[in-house]
Amino acid sequence: MTTVTVHRRIDLVERSRQLIQDLQDPSGAYPASSDFSAYQGYCWFRDGSFIADGMSAVGAAASASAFFDWCARVLEANRPQICQVVAAARAGRPLPDRAMLPARFHFDGSPGRDDWWDFQLDGYGTWLWAVVEHAERHRLDLARWREAIELTTDYLVSSWDRPCYDWWEEHDDEIHISTLGCVLAGLKAVVARSAVTGERAEQARSAAQAVEDTIWRQGVADGHLVKWIGSQELDGSLSALLAPLAVVDPNSELGLGTVAALEDQLLADGGVYRFRADTFFGGGRWPLLTCFLGLARQAQGDRRGALDCLDWAGGTATPSGDLPEQVDGGLLLDRSWKQPWIDRWGAVATPLLWSHAMYLRLAAALDLVPPTDPTDSAPSSDPTSSRRPVSPDDPASSRHPAPSRRIQSGPVDAATTRSRTGPARTAETEVEA
Ligand code: BGC
Repeated sequence: MTTVTVHRRIDLVERSRQLIQDLQDPSGAYPASSDFSAYQGYCWFRDGSFIADGMSAVGAAASASAFFDWCARVLEANRPQICQVVAAARAGRPLPDRAMLPARFHFDGSPGRDDWWDFQLDGYGTWLWAVVEHAERHRLDLARWREAIELTTDYLVSSWDRPCYDWWEEHDDEIHISTLGCVLAGLKAVVARSAVTGERAEQARSAAQAVEDTIWRQGVADGHLVKWIGSQELDGSLSALLAPLAVVDPNSELGLGTVAALEDQLLADGGVYRFRADTFFGGGRWPLLTCFLGLARQAQGDRRGALDCLDWAGGTATPSGDLPEQVDGGLLLDRSWKQPWIDRWGAVATPLLWSHAMYLRLAAALDLVPPTDPTDSAPSSDPTSSRRPVSPDDPASSRHPAPSRRIQSGPVDAATTRSRTGPARTAETEVEA
C-alpha cells in the first residue's frame, strides 16, 4: 500500500464526513442528494438510516442522534396512521398499500406530494437496527427514541409479510429478501437490547423468528440468498444481510455462497451492479453496493478483498471528492439506455450521501478512520451555514416535474416489466407528466 493511497483514503473519509455534516438539514434529516432533481428536498428512511449508521461509526454521534430524533418526530406525528394500520392488520383486514407509511418525507416531516413508489418496509427495519446500534456504540439511553421504536415495532410486526417495493423501489408484488433482512435486523435489535418490553417484546420475538424462517425456507436457491421469494436471481443489496445487518452468519455456508454468487454474477472490474436486468441509467455499478460487499468480505476475514472494494468505490469520486450513485463505465446495457434518464431527471445523483456514508462505514470497519473527531456536532440552523435545506415550499423543489412512472420511448425494444425502470423497456410509452 502506498502513502498516496493512505492519504487518499483519509482525505475521502474526511470529505465524506464533512459533506454529510454540511448537507444535513437543521431538522436532522439527511437529503438523499443535494443536486438531483427527483431526490431534492427528501429524506428516505433507508438512505438516512445507513447514513446515520456511517456517521455514528466514524464518531459523528451528534449528527446521527439528530437524524434519529427526526425519525422519531416523523413516526410520532404519524401515530394515528400507524395505529390504524396495526389495528386493521390485527383484525385480519389489512389496509391497502396506499395507507402504509411512505418511504421518504420532506425535511419538515410532511409526506411527498409527488407520485412515488412509496410502500417500502425496509427503511423502517433499518432505522430500528441503526438507532439501537448507535445507542450501543455511544452508550446512549434508548429512552429518547422509545415511543418511535415501539410504534415501528408494532408496524413491522403487523405488516412484515406484505409484498412491497424493494430497495430500488421496484416490484411491489414481491416479497424481497433484502427487505426481510432489514426487518429482521430491526426486530432482533430491539428485542436483544430490551428496547421493547412485555407483550410487545414477545410479539417482536415471534415475528423475528417467522421472518428468519421465511428467509431460510424461501429466500435461498443454489446455496445463496435470492432477490425475492420464488426468484433464482441475485441482488447487490443481499450482502447487507451478512454485514452490517448481521442476520446471516458471513462465514456460514449461506454467507459464503452468497458472496461467491455476488462476485460471480454482479461484480465487474471491482464494482457491484444492483441486478442483472437493471436499466436505471443504463445499469451502472454502485459504489455503495461495492462497500456493502466490502463489509461482507471484511466480516469473512477477507481484508484484502474489502480494501479492494473501498478503493474501487473511492476511485469513483469526482475531482472535487463527490461520490456518485452509480458510474457508467461498463453499463449492463448499451449507452443509449442512459440518455432517456438524463433527459428525465438530469445526470446521475452526485454526490449521493448514502455512497459517502457507506465509504465511511467500510473505512470504519477496516480501522482506517482517524480517531479524532473535530467535526462532530448536531446540525445547526445557522442561516449563514453552507447547508441549503430545501423545503416543500421552496421554489427549487417544485422547479422539477413530478416524476412519472413512465419515460419516453427507450431506444431498445424489450419485454414489458412492472418494475420502476421497466416502462422504458416497453415499445408503447406514455409521455412524462
Ligand atoms: C434508489 C433508492 C434510494 C433513492 C434515494 C433511488 O434511485 O433506488 O434506493 O433510496 O434513490 O437515494
